[in-house]
Amino acid sequence: MRQTVGTIDYTGRIPNNVDLAGDRRLQRALESWQPKFLAWWAEMGPALPTRDVYLRTAVSVGREGWAHFGHVALPEYRWGIFLSERSPDRAIGFGRHKGEPVWQQVPGEHRSDLQRLIVVQGDTEPASVEQQRHLGATAPSLYDLRNLFQVNVEEGRHLWAMVYLLHAYFGRDGREEAEALLLRNSGSEDAPRILGAFNEPTPDWLAFFMFTYFTDRDGKYQLGTLKESAFDPLARTCDFMLKEEAHHMMVGTTGVDRVVARTAELMREHDTDDIARYGGIPLGVLQRYLNFHYSVSLDLFGSETSTNVANYFTNGLKGRWQEDRRKDDHVLAEGHTAVETVADGRITAVETPLLVALNQDLRTEYTADCGSGVTRWNRILAEYGIGERLLLPHHGFNRAVGAYAGHRIAPDGTVLDAEQWAAGVPQWLPSDDDMAFVASLMQPVYEPGRVASWIAPPKQGIDGRPFAYEYVHLV
Ligand SMILES: [Fe+2]
Ligand SMILES: [Fe+2]
Repeated sequence: MRQTVGTIDYTGRIPNNVDLAGDRRLQRALESWQPKFLAWWAEMGPALPTRDVYLRTAVSVGREGWAHFGHVALPEYRWGIFLSERSPDRAIGFGRHKGEPVWQQVPGEHRSDLQRLIVVQGDTEPASVEQQRHLGATAPSLYDLRNLFQVNVEEGRHLWAMVYLLHAYFGRDGREEAEALLLRNSGSEDAPRILGAFNEPTPDWLAFFMFTYFTDRDGKYQLGTLKESAFDPLARTCDFMLKEEAHHMMVGTTGVDRVVARTAELMREHDTDDIARYGGIPLGVLQRYLNFHYSVSLDLFGSETSTNVANYFTNGLKGRWQEDRRKDDHVLAEGHTAVETVADGRITAVETPLLVALNQDLRTEYTADCGSGVTRWNRILAEYGIGERLLLPHHGFNRAVGAYAGHRIAPDGTVLDAEQWAAGVPQWLPSDDDMAFVASLMQPVYEPGRVASWIAPPKQGIDGRPFAYEYVHLV
C-alpha cells in the first residue's frame, strides 16, 4: 500500500513535495540558504554562458512520466526537494532493528553517524559540478552540451536533497554543515572536497564520459545502500536521486560507446591502430583512461574491511546493495567471507566476518556492473571487426585506499616491485602526452546536427527529439 504524495508544489520559492509551506521555520532557513547556493552556482557552476538549455525538471515523484522537458535558462532552473513516496508500512530491513518500523526522526544515538553519512554524500554532489565547470567550452555537439548541463543541474539538486535533510533533521549542526558544503571546493588546497576522486580534475570530455560511467556509478551504489536506511527521509531521498542518477550513467555508457565506435570506424577505414592523425582517440588511450577512472572510483568504496560500516549496518543506518534480494538473515552476526590482502609479495585471502567486509561486498557488486559496460564496448569493437579488446583492470591496480594501497599491482593482478611498476605505468595510466593529445581534440562543435571528429553521433536524441535539435541556445 502506498500513500501518494502526488505532484510537486512549484508555487513557492523552493519547489518541494515535503509540505515546506507547513513548516515556516524550515522554509525560512532553506530560503536563506538558497541565495548562497545560487551564488555558488554562478561562481562554480557551468562557465559557458548560455541563453537556455533543453532540460528535464521533476514534476512528480511517481513511476510514470515524472519529468517535464523544456528550454530553461540555467540560473532559473527550479532546484527543489523531492522525496519518493512514503510507504506507511515500511519496516527496517536489516540489522538489530530488523522488522521494527522505520524512523521518521533521527535517534539521538545515531545522530552523528547519520549526519556524517549525509555530509559525505552531499559533498560529492557539488564537487562534480565544480570538476565539470569548464567542459562547456569544448563540447563535441549541442546534444552533449545539453547532457553536461542536465547532469550539472541534477547534481546541484542532489546537493539540495542532502541540505534539506541537514536542515530538517540535524538542527544547528546540520545548518552549519550545509554552509560548509558550499565552502569546500574540488581540488582546493585549503578546503578540498572530502573524497579523493572528487578532487581530481575532469579536464576533457573523454574524462567526463569515464567519470559519468565509473564515478557516477559509485554514486549509484552508495545511494543504493542509503536507500535501505532505517531513517526513512534519507531512504526516500536517495530513492528519488537514484532515478535521476540513471541519466548520468546513460551519458557515460553511451558516451564511451560513441568514442569506441568512432575509434573502431577509423581503425577499419585506415587499417591501422594509429588513428590519432585521423582525429580519433587510439584504443590504448581509451584503455588508460578507463584504468585511471575505474581505479580512483574503487577508492571511493573505502577499505575492504571496516568496523564503522559494520556498525552502520547493525544499527540500520546503511544497508547492502539490494538488501531485500539477499538470501540470508539480514543480520550477519555469523558467517565469514574471504577478503584479499597483499602479503609477502602475493595476494592472499583471509577469512573475515561478513559484517566487517561490507565495503568489499559493495565494491564487488560495483565491479560486476562496470564489467557490463566493458562487455558492451567490446561488442562494438567486434561489430567493426576489430580484434583488440578493452579490459577492466584488477581491483588492486593503482589503489590509494584499502588493502592494495602502498602495493604495486599490474592490471592483470600481478604484484610488482617498484622498477616493474615504473616500467609499466606508461602503458597503463594516461601520460601527459595522452592528455595533451586528447586536449588537442577538444574543439567545440556547436552547430546543430554536427559532431566532433573523435566521437560518433548518438543513436537517439533526448525526449524523442532528433540529434540535430537545438538543445542549447548559446548567447
Ligand atoms: Fe548525484
Ligand atoms: Fe550523478
